[in-house]
Amino acid sequence: MVKKVQDYYFKKAKKENYPARSVYKLVEAHEKHTILKSGDKVLDLGCHPGSWSLYSAKIVGPSGLVVGIDLKNEKKIQQAGKAKIIAIFADIMAPETIPLLAEYAEKFDVVISDMAPKTTGNKWSDQQHSLDLCRQALFLADQLLKTGGNFYCKVFEGEDFKLFFESVREKFEFAKIVKPKSSRKESREVFVLGKGFMQ
Ligand SMILES: C[S@@+](CC[C@H](N)C(=O)[O-])C[C@H]1O[C@@H](n2cnc3c(N)ncnc32)[C@H](O)[C@@H]1O
Repeated sequence: MVKKVQDYYFKKAKKENYPARSVYKLVEAHEKHTILKSGDKVLDLGCHPGSWSLYSAKIVGPSGLVVGIDLKNEKKIQQAGKAKIIAIFADIMAPETIPLLAEYAEKFDVVISDMAPKTTGNKWSDQQHSLDLCRQALFLADQLLKTGGNFYCKVFEGEDFKLFFESVREKFEFAKIVKPKSSRKESREVFVLGKGFMQ
C-alpha cells in the first residue's frame, strides 16, 4: 500500500515534469491554505533538485521571484518559463547567508523549507540535526520576511518539536501543523505553517 502511494506520486511528478515527488507536499498545503500568490518573492531553503522552486515559480508568475539555496548544485533547476528562479549553492547555517541573499532581495513574501539533514541512522541525533535546520529556517524567516509573510517548513516530530511549534506560533498570526497525504503516514515528517508574519 505504501509503495502504491509512493509510486502514484512518483509517476505524477514525472508526468508533470517535476524532478521530485516531494512537490506535492507543497502543492497540497498551498491548495488548502494559500501560501503563495502572484508577484511574491519566495525563498526556498534546501531547494535541490528544484520541485518546490518550480512549483512556486508557476504560482508567483513572471512578476515574482524564487531564490533557492542548497548544499547541492549538481543539477541546475529547470526554468519554469514563469518567474525567474535563482539557485544559490550555499549552506544556510553559514553567517554569510543573509548578506548573500540581500544581493537578490531585501525581503521575501514567503519562506519555504523542505530541508533534511544527511541521516546517520541515529534517530535522536538525526532529529536534533533536523530541528537545528528548522530553527535556522525560522531565524532566516524572522530576518527576511515582510510583515504579513508566510512560512512553511518540514520538521520531524520528536523531542523539542512542541517548542519549535510554539516559537512559530509566537511570530505568526496563524500557525498550524500540516500532514499532506503525499507524506508517508508512518514517517514522523510533518510541516509547520505560519501565516501572517508579525514584526
Ligand atoms: C528533500 S530535499 C529538498 C527537495 C526539494 N524541496 C524539491 O522538492 O526538489 C532536502 C535538501 O535539503 C538540503 N540541505 C540540507 N541541509 C542544508 C543546509 N545546511 N543548507 C542548504 N541546504 C541544505 C539537502 O542538500 C537536500 O537537497
